[in-house]
Amino acid sequence: MRVYLDNAATTPLDKEVFEAMAPFMLEDFGNPSSTHAHGRKVRAAIESSRKKIAELLNCTPGEIIFTSGGTEADNTLITSGVQTYNIKHAISTPIEHHAVTHTLEVLEKQGTIELHHVELDKNGHVDLGHLEKLLKQFPNSLVSLMHANNEIGNLLDIQRVGELSKQYNAFFHSDTVQTMGHYRHNMKELHVCGLTAGAHKFHGPKGVGFMYIQKDRKIAQLIHGGAQERNMRGGTENVYGIIGLAKALEIAYRDMAEHTRHIQALKSRMIEKLRENIPGVLFNGDSANSERSLYTVLNVSLPESEENDMLLFNLDLQGISASGGSACSSGASTGSHVLGALYPNSKRGAVRFSFSKYNTAEEIDFATEKLADLFKVNA
Ligand SMILES: Cc1ncc(COP(=O)(O)O)c(C=O)c1O
Repeated sequence: MRVYLDNAATTPLDKEVFEAMAPFMLEDFGNPSSTHAHGRKVRAAIESSRKKIAELLNCTPGEIIFTSGGTEADNTLITSGVQTYNIKHAISTPIEHHAVTHTLEVLEKQGTIELHHVELDKNGHVDLGHLEKLLKQFPNSLVSLMHANNEIGNLLDIQRVGELSKQYNAFFHSDTVQTMGHYRHNMKELHVCGLTAGAHKFHGPKGVGFMYIQKDRKIAQLIHGGAQERNMRGGTENVYGIIGLAKALEIAYRDMAEHTRHIQALKSRMIEKLRENIPGVLFNGDSANSERSLYTVLNVSLPESEENDMLLFNLDLQGISASGGSACSSGASTGSHVLGALYPNSKRGAVRFSFSKYNTAEEIDFATEKLADLFKVNA
């Protein structure tokens, strides 16, 4: 048996998505910028994809810009947001995705911004009181806080952060790469200036994503070239990627209630079985809290053992694809910057399991059993 439990890294492509994409790989090959019939047909398909996504997010098509994925969308919103609004202060955390932390570090090194870290509570949640304090001290800043952490699954109160950001005139960017397609984002209610998505996290193709940019918070173009994407991003569009992205999001919204129930049940089952079978097991961040954690992610914290470093390797040998990384207090280049920031002195092992609509209860039982066996041997 081979079990895939690394869906926060990437998800398998949905067959329905592939079927929607296939014609654009073969017969509908025109360049969407061409004005002849071949081009016009493809242009129409791109615009209809944009419209579909805008409907799902309750925004206007002009607020959706296609990118090569979450990383490019994060880089663009942060870098161009800072440039466009002459922003001098950024508020973020050390546990954002590297697409955010590294972009902010570059801007800080250039002397463009001063970076301020908002305090986290013991479970890794953003301290909203401290956020407000920073916003008061540094109005008109950039706030970059992810909606859900890709490693530990902690969910942000994005509504509240949006309201606070609006109150202090901050440019609020939220990395929603892990929540897009798993939660509904209503852009008429969220006070977010920019958010980001990568199609491969919700059964779409790799190498394509989008950014939402609120129409009153336009930003300058970052990739110069042709007039594609309403002059926001030069370069011939990833046509079949865009078609697949829109189809994947449409399916995700269509089946969201059912999939949420299914995946949440798998996660609860795993938590229960791990607690029964591994003495001393804990869960990193607020990963076991069903209210404040992404239902697709469970980050397991295993008691200290010399063999912890080999756990992922051994799980792989046993047929389980998962990921993780220890807190790595030794400062070596491997290890998780998220766990390192939250548990700097921990020597416990960590495995991140992440689930999708395709996983089954049998797979959860298999993985739990193998982890418990390994741990018994190694502990
Ligand atoms: C939270 C988060 N942000 C950004 C990214 C990067 O997205 P992409 O792979 O589409 O560039 C990922 C993917 O791992 C992610 O989990």
